[in-house]
Parts: sequence; C-alpha cells; structure tokens
Amino acid sequence: MWVLSCASSAYPTASRRASAAPMANFRSSSRVSVRTSHHHLHDESPFVPEVVDAVNGLYSEFREVDYLVARNTSRVLKAFQNVRVGSHHFGGCTGYGHDEAGGREALDKAFAEIVGAESAIVRSQFFSGTHAITCALFAILRPGDELLAVAGAPYDTLEEVLGKRDSHGLGSLKDFGVTYREVPLADDGGLDWEALMDAVKPKTKCALIQRSCGYSWRKSLSVSEIGRAIKIIKLQNPDCSIVVDNCYGEFVESIEPPMVGADLIAGSLIKNPGGTVAPCGGYVAGRKKWVRAAAARLSAPGLGLDCGSTPGDIMRAFFQGLFLSPQMVGEAIKGSFLIAEVLASKGYKVQPLPRAPRHDTVQAVQLGSRKCLLAFCEAVQRSSPVGSFTKPIAGTTPGYASEVIFADGTFIDGSTSELSCDGPLREPFAVFCQGGTHWTQWGLVLGEVLKSI
Ligand SMILES: Cc1ncc(COP(=O)(O)O)c(C=O)c1O
Repeated sequence: MWVLSCASSAYPTASRRASAAPMANFRSSSRVSVRTSHHHLHDESPFVPEVVDAVNGLYSEFREVDYLVARNTSRVLKAFQNVRVGSHHFGGCTGYGHDEAGGREALDKAFAEIVGAESAIVRSQFFSGTHAITCALFAILRPGDELLAVAGAPYDTLEEVLGKRDSHGLGSLKDFGVTYREVPLADDGGLDWEALMDAVKPKTKCALIQRSCGYSWRKSLSVSEIGRAIKIIKLQNPDCSIVVDNCYGEFVESIEPPMVGADLIAGSLIKNPGGTVAPCGGYVAGRKKWVRAAAARLSAPGLGLDCGSTPGDIMRAFFQGLFLSPQMVGEAIKGSFLIAEVLASKGYKVQPLPRAPRHDTVQAVQLGSRKCLLAFCEAVQRSSPVGSFTKPIAGTTPGYASEVIFADGTFIDGSTSELSCDGPLREPFAVFCQGGTHWTQWGLVLGEVLKSI
C-alpha cells in the first residue's frame, strides 16, 4: 500500500506557488511520500531542479494558455458542426479526385470559417509553407508590380522565390518582372511604424507580412499589430493586397489575420494547423478571388478547387489534426514559456522574453557559438522519440543559403508542430525551438540540454 501526499496536477496551483516553501511540485511529492511496501516507488521528479522551479513559476501563464486552447477549440468545434463533418468525409480519393465524398469541400469551408476567411484551399499537394506562400504571392502579383515586405527580410526559403537570391532562371517573381522592396525592422525588432507610413507606392500591388520571427532575431507580430499595419498600408493604396505568412502563428491567439483585413494567409500543415498528425500539406485562405487564383497556381487555371486526389487516410488526419491543433499549439506555447524561463535563468538571451505574451510557437535562444548550437540540437535529437540514436549534422538544405542544422526526431519528417529545434549556422548562433505534444516533453528535453551546453 502507498501513501502519497498528492498527485501531480497538470500544473501547480496558485496557492502552492505562493506557499513559503519553494514549491518543487514533483520533488516535494517524493519528499513526503511514505513507502510502506517493498515495491520501489517511482516518484522522483522526472525534471531537473531548474525545470521544476520554472514550472512552479509559470502557473498563471499555463492557465492562460488553457483558456486560449478552450476558445480556439470552441471555434474549431463550431466550424466542424456547421459543415457537418462526418466519417464519410474521411475517405480518400484517387486519380483526378472528382469522385470525392465531400471531405475536401467540408475541410476548406471549416478552415475558412475558423480563420475568418471567405474561402480556403487545404491540400496535401502543397509541399510546404514556402510552396503555399509562393502560390499566394503568384496569385496576386503580375509583371510590373512591386512586392513590399513590411517586416524586414522574409524567411530564408523565400529568397529564391522573390529573386532576392538568384533562382537561376527557374521562375522567381523577379524573373517574371515583379520588383521587390523591404521595410527594415525598427531597432526594437518590431515593425517600423514610421517608415511604414509612406512605404507603399502606386505600383505596390502586394505587401507581405511575416507573422512569426523566422530565423531572424526579431519580435513576432500580434494579430492586432498586423491589423494596424494593414490599415496603414490600405490608407496609402487600397489596391495593395496583403499576404500574411502565417507559419507558426495559427491558434496562438484567438483571432487570425483575415479577421483584421488580410487578403490571403498561407501556411504549412506540418506546423500548427496539422495538429501533429497531418502527414503533409499546406493551405491558403482569404478572399475568394485570390484563393481561386492561388489554387490555379497550385494546379492550373481552369481546374478550380474541386479536383486533386487525396489517397488513403490523409483526409481523416487533416480533420483530426485541425481539431487537435489548438491543443497542440497550447502545449507548444507552454513549452516555449518553459524554455525561455530556464535558459534565461542561465543567462542566455531569449526571444520572446520569459513570460512575455506569445504571438507564435517559436522560442529563440542565442547560444553565441557554433559549438553550443550544435550541442543544443544534438541534445534535443538524443531526447527525441524517433532517431534518438542519430546525430544531426549541419549542412546545406534546399531553399536555404546558410548552413542549417535541424533536430527533428519526429514521427512526421520535418514536422515542427512536434518537438523540434533548428537554426542557421550564422551569428548570433540562435536556436529556434518549437512544437511538442505536451509541455512535459520540453521539461525532460531541457534536462538533457542543460547537461550539454
Ligand atoms: C516564418 C516562416 N515562414 C515560412 C517558413 C517556411 O516553411 P516551410 O519550411 O514549411 O517551407 C518558415 C519555416 O520555418 C517560417 O519560420
């Protein structure tokens, strides 16, 4: 028979946190447990003391995240009910995909409702976030137009798409006569509001807003900041359409960019909205006219939205992943709070700062040296459920100019809604951490990381 002081709750309670004794939640239960049989009691804390202390300080942040999850899950549930999602929608289709049981249309409609858009196209045929964003940009831009990036340099893999980096004649926007300009970020890493006031010109047909930090040491944007930027842009040129790179932003707040005026958003299903179970794919959502044009870029003009096969079990994974997504995003946000808390306590620069409101699922940590960045990623890989016996090697990756390292011991290859980290091997040698199906996984991984860096 065992007498245990208390079961560990999902997170410590406020009163525990306020108690005089430092509330080592998992440790204290071991201290006061009484062993009354010969069995060994496995009630030692699974976490190192730094993690225990951080968890105990994050009670109110974790509780806020749970409310966020509830709000977003409620929105997803309503959309699923409104489109009458049923098990018949989970069947696959082959060939042209014309003989499909309505799952594709139901998923598109539900997704559009969830993000507050007129229309959406959610498809396995999008290779990645970069591909979906590319389709969105090519939907809007035509020769002679200008694209303006308003949050500094866009994510690395877009450089060849835009023609910032030579695409060797493979068809970048530049190859098609679309010019490109950037509004650099302000000194504080946020949008340069003053510069934005007169940045938009008559031929600026499209503005690109990157919600998440990417591989830059910058602030991620809140949806309300995105809304403010959209107003400023449209005041200067109402014909300028807004594309938001929504990667890593989905469900981090309870509103999405189309609700504040974005014309198109695009992202990847092996990030937030795939809920860790979508095996591939991406999405574009927004104004009907532009979603149709993005679909034509994905497939061909005239084919429309009602084709493209999704064989096997993929539709079920898309629906289930979308349903799970708010919860998985919540866990990833809790993980990011934990990483920031623990590594800042060790003196590392972190972005966002500990306990600061989150606008994406990414937590960046400046490690300062190549050696430390490699050691961090190796520790994460060692602590992963898949390929723990492998060592991540920095190298060249399609789409990236810099050498990059990825620790992704994930069930879906390259999935960053699952626990993972990565970074370019360049100053300031920052690691970008994201994902996780439960914050406790980061709690465990951080123990290994602290031993290694
Ligand atoms: C902000 C941002 N945009 C776009 C991408 C590209 O996404 P993908 O790797 O799915 O092409 C990333 C990738 O991490 C990103 O962080």
